[in-house]
Amino acid sequence: MISDVVDWLSCPHCATALIVEAGAGSRLVCEEGHAFDVARPGYVSLLAGAGAGGTADTAAMVADRAAFLGAGHYAGIADLVAGLASEVGAGDDSEGTCVLDLGAGTGYYLARVLDAVDRPGIALDISKHAARLAAKAHPRIGAVVADAWAGLPVRGRSASVVLNVFAPRNPREMRRVLHPRGRAIVVVPEPDHLRELIAEYALMAVDDRKPERLREQFADRFRIESEHPHSARPTLSAEQVSQVVGMGPNAWHERAEEVRSGGAVTVAVRAYVLSPT
Ligand SMILES: C[S@@+](CC[C@H](N)C(=O)[O-])C[C@H]1O[C@@H](n2cnc3c(N)ncnc32)[C@H](O)[C@@H]1O
Ligand SMILES: [Zn+2]
Repeated sequence: MISDVVDWLSCPHCATALIVEAGAGSRLVCEEGHAFDVARPGYVSLLAGAGAGGTADTAAMVADRAAFLGAGHYAGIADLVAGLASEVGAGDDSEGTCVLDLGAGTGYYLARVLDAVDRPGIALDISKHAARLAAKAHPRIGAVVADAWAGLPVRGRSASVVLNVFAPRNPREMRRVLHPRGRAIVVVPEPDHLRELIAEYALMAVDDRKPERLREQFADRFRIESEHPHSARPTLSAEQVSQVVGMGPNAWHERAEEVRSGGAVTVAVRAYVLSPT
């Protein structure tokens, strides 16, 4: 719930602390009086401006993502991330910190992490459709609509773990909100991830499959502490192929119903544990 995470949030306009307004429980208010309604499904929008709306997952993409993840084909990735999160973090200093997931989508990975780490979690995503599901994904999740490219409406040194799974990365802000003894866990696809589908369905729209790119992005503020490759080869039904196509940013997602056959696909990702420098 939002009340679980409000202590780590800040006003997107003036950066002062937010509190849940006494009595109502459906509004957050900052010290300067800026107010933000908590939407009925339980998330709050802390977008300062219009935001990078173009990159927000649509309702259809989020529905496909929820259905696909629900079938468990990426459960191995969730296990990996949850295992890493329970090993790293701020140790004894983690009291008073939260877990932040940037570009959290449906909250699938964050929920698994919170099962392993007894802290509250902020699911931040620019898509309100994603935030609606993330708000329900775990009792200790507070879901926030915000732009990962802008200054995050999150107080400095808040998070013992910052997660980033297949999502936009903002190293400067990730560093600012991370507790000095915390760790970032970043998951990126490997070059052969879903290779059976790439050519057919133009799945390569986002080119972040290059490890050098990640290294360069984080070099100024983080050190790569460890790397954890994960691969699997699940067999997908035609419907699941259409969901995995539909949940991604590619030209095909409006034609996903044209997918006629399933088959085995390569799942290949790499998780990086990053420590702040
Ligand atoms: C490929 S999805 C991954 C979602 C989730 N981490 C997962 O793996 O299931 C990318 C997510 O980033 C979100 N996103 C895109 N642009 C964003 C931005 N500027 N700020 C915050 N979230 C953004 C999308 O709405 C989407 O939910
Ligand atoms: Zn304010």
